[in-house]
Amino acid sequence: MITRRNMLLGTAALSALPALGNATQRDVLRASTIRQRIAPEPYAETDLWSFGGSFPGRTLRYKQGERLSLDLVNDLPGATSVHWHGIRIDNAMDGVPGLTQPAIPAGDTFTYDFALPDAGTYWYHSHLQTVEQMERGLYGALIVEEAEAPDVDRDLVLMLDDIRFTDEAQVDPEFDGFFDRSHGGRIGNVALVNGKIDESFDVKRGDRLRLRLISAANARIFELGLQGMSAHVVAYDGMPLIAPQPVTETFPLASAQRMDLIVDITDDSDAYLIQYERDGGYAAVHFNVSGGRDTTRPTPDALPPNPDFPIDLANAETLPILIAGGAMAGLDHAMYKGTRMTGRELAQENMFWALNGQVGRTETPLIEVSKGQTVRIGMANDTAFPHAMHLHGMHFAQVLADGTLGPLRDTILIESQGQIEIAFNAHNPGDWLFHCHMLSHHAAGMGSFIRVI
Ligand code: C2O
Ligand code: CU
Repeated sequence: MITRRNMLLGTAALSALPALGNATQRDVLRASTIRQRIAPEPYAETDLWSFGGSFPGRTLRYKQGERLSLDLVNDLPGATSVHWHGIRIDNAMDGVPGLTQPAIPAGDTFTYDFALPDAGTYWYHSHLQTVEQMERGLYGALIVEEAEAPDVDRDLVLMLDDIRFTDEAQVDPEFDGFFDRSHGGRIGNVALVNGKIDESFDVKRGDRLRLRLISAANARIFELGLQGMSAHVVAYDGMPLIAPQPVTETFPLASAQRMDLIVDITDDSDAYLIQYERDGGYAAVHFNVSGGRDTTRPTPDALPPNPDFPIDLANAETLPILIAGGAMAGLDHAMYKGTRMTGRELAQENMFWALNGQVGRTETPLIEVSKGQTVRIGMANDTAFPHAMHLHGMHFAQVLADGTLGPLRDTILIESQGQIEIAFNAHNPGDWLFHCHMLSHHAAGMGSFIRVI
């Protein structure tokens, strides 16, 4: 799939292909280094890596059922790849170097071309050296519109991140620090929405907005709240809820998670998306409210459902996963690169976490199941930290205490010492990563894969 554009252009045979060229109509997404202002003057602009020339990367918008077809041109100083987070995608297009494709070397082009079966809020990001590449800015929103979109005045993408800056407002270049890898991951010191420290929008009283929240943070779990608006959650991780849920309290958004909210601006005073920290709440997004109408709107309708792959709990394969390691609950021993090692030996390798006693991905999947089989994964988090566990290629539901299923998700937060059972229909053939989306944890061992044949 890797093509060198300059070689292709010199090929005489290409003149025979214009018809094919028309049929495929590919977009181009260029990965490159950029400089962008994040911190105010007199700070310098920040050196970043970008998909499409901006930070966050270009927002990609398609209609449900369309194909995404683009040439990823790698003008970065190093290799990269693109993962389309949350898309129930053709495995060959999943963008995981060493599992579904080779990394795209600097100077090369890779064609991503796949169907978009589900409407919703997704995102794309590098899946190579993610602690560094995502922190430097290699991510963007991927929006798949419903055939019949809800009736709103504005549809706003809000990509949340936190970035760790040096005193010169540059991305701190220490990406493999032992502390981040063994504790809560790389937590930043500057909070951003859409790459800005002061994102704001002008709205009117009575406006109905769709807010698409996406967390691109390396590790931080945002605690969020709303002020000056009434809100309903209509989707998690792209997938519509059967019934919209009113937002009455603060809510968490872990790394890689998304939430679609329908909010109504209810009064004249300004409205906010608030980010809570230990010492209080901060305005993550400011909505400047000016005069408007006084209509009260009815509760929003549910979004139209995406294709359903029913979960058959009674006839499921089960997979227990023990999440272990990290500071304060260090590994006694675990397997790494085919060798049984002590926690101390692993720490010398800068590796700290294990799934079922295995540090990092091997050639062997956690489980191999046949297509259409339901899988139940019982996770136990025997560590001192929460983790944002993500499955590629398929959405899962939490199996609740009463045996019913929670909403479909692709990333779920499991608290320290927590136990969560999830289940999914293994409808999508291929090798699918299952890993912690706290990127330093994944890099330090917390990831494996599931094979569907
Ligand atoms: Cu956002 Cu392995 O993925
Ligand atoms: Cu983790």
